[in-house]
Amino acid sequence: MDSKVDQLNKRIAEAHLGGGKKRIDKQHAKKKLTARERVNYIMDQGSFEETGALVTHRTTDFGMENQLYYGDGVITGYGTINGRLVYIYAQDFTVFGGALSETHAEKICKIMDLAVKVGAPIIGLNDSGGARIQEGVRSLGGYADIFYRNVQASGVIPQISAIMGPCAGGAVYSPAMTDFTLMVENTSYMFVTGPNVVKTVTNEEVSSEDLGGAQTHASKSGVAHKTSANDIECLDDLKTLLSYLPQNNTETAKPLDYNLQDEVRDVLATIVPDNSNKPYDMHQVISGIIDTDSFYEIHKDYAENIIVGFARLGGKSIGIVANQPQFLAGVLDVNSSKKAARFTRFCDCFNIPLLVLVDVPGFLPGTDQEWNGIIVNGAKLLYALSEATVPRVTVITRKAYGGAYDVMNSKHIGADLNFAWPGAEIAVMGAKGASEIIFKKEISNAENPSEKLAEKEAEYAEKFANPYRAAQRGFIDEVILPEDTRRKLIKAFAMLENKEVNVPKRKHGNIPL
Ligand code: COA
Repeated sequence: MDSKVDQLNKRIAEAHLGGGKKRIDKQHAKKKLTARERVNYIMDQGSFEETGALVTHRTTDFGMENQLYYGDGVITGYGTINGRLVYIYAQDFTVFGGALSETHAEKICKIMDLAVKVGAPIIGLNDSGGARIQEGVRSLGGYADIFYRNVQASGVIPQISAIMGPCAGGAVYSPAMTDFTLMVENTSYMFVTGPNVVKTVTNEEVSSEDLGGAQTHASKSGVAHKTSANDIECLDDLKTLLSYLPQNNTETAKPLDYNLQDEVRDVLATIVPDNSNKPYDMHQVISGIIDTDSFYEIHKDYAENIIVGFARLGGKSIGIVANQPQFLAGVLDVNSSKKAARFTRFCDCFNIPLLVLVDVPGFLPGTDQEWNGIIVNGAKLLYALSEATVPRVTVITRKAYGGAYDVMNSKHIGADLNFAWPGAEIAVMGAKGASEIIFKKEISNAENPSEKLAEKEAEYAEKFANPYRAAQRGFIDEVILPEDTRRKLIKAFAMLENKEVNVPKRKHGNIPL
């Protein structure tokens, strides 16, 4: 007879095999790692402690009592990543296609509950055929148990999802409620209903990849915050992302050692062209300001007229929101407003100071924008920045026109320090548009209207296309040289480190959704 230790080892070995060698080979043939390989890769070596490895499902319908696999299609546990405690669950596609049963959901809920009680990030590696079909409503209940916990944990601990295989139907809503969703190219997809249902209902023919692949969600829907070429890259990305975040909403992100604290960066003086209608790449301004190679961009291919991401400044983690003059001249539109608002709120939840870089000609005009609710969507960004209580610093690199000036972290909505570069233009609108309106009669009555317009335009530009009116009013705290921006910002954020804001008691605000 087996000794007790042998019995245990036999069970553990069985659990480690998941759905068996054949299915593991199938997983590898699809260029995917298994759930266990993923967990072992992302966690610090030897740090992973598994919970619930011997759990099995309780279903007896359809002969399921004869198909029992230890772990029931999900690996759960805790360990460290770069020395910091994290909780993790990884769905195992080799067991019932990673489909979610009642017990599978219970395991996930248990690990989420621990993560919230202790105050450490939760990571979900998704690879699942959805609800365990043999279990019916018990499986649906399991999803809802997870959704509820996602919401309770929101803004308390960072929640990160990686989609590393199928994620369809109800399964999509847990990742959607976490803070960040990463997707692997070509091997993952997310949709509420798959291509077959789409064909039946709308008669559209679309592949899984086009409907809900990584590229689609990274560029069209914005559901994915980041994509990677394969599992390893995705897990590496996830580790890097975690390094910018604190463990929970009562802590701040751990700073890195960084020696060069306040060097002058001459390159910053060479980026913005003299001609204010010429585009430039705001990424160059960002990398000119931050610690070398420290930018971690979120939503890189979605609403490219605004840039958001994490960076380090003097070793400390910050969030950056920046207009991108290279795309649509950096205008605010529906998608860019949503993108920046969501990122701003994440930073505010988790005590990550915000740097806002402004070069914005205004809001994008047109029926498409109005009918898609630019009013309510633009208001999201205005609301998100206004409610943020983390340290908030603004640098206007060039244009700050119209209502977009107000929205982009102006002093009036609670920014702590507002800088402008000497070439900044802060006004209601551009000189041409403004002159055409206020000097309309004078121009049309002139002998040479176009000459008159040019004259008036120059007059308006001279008066308003500069930072000094705003500086006179105190709307700008200081006009600074571009090359001094980095050291000014390091000092500003250090000065703001102990910022405290007491907000009035309320259940929650009512952000325009
Ligand atoms: N419930 C129970 N078992 C499931 C399942 C589910 N939702 N989805 C997949 N499986 C099982 C399959 O029966 C198969 O079992 P086996 O290894 O014993 O043969 C295994 O998981 C792998 O599935 P398979 O269909 O062979 O893999 P695939 O890569 O060809 O396709 C899916 C993957 C997800 C596209 C496909 O399995 C699928 O369409 N699943 C159903 C999705 C769904 O409608 N879910 C319910 C609503 S949310």
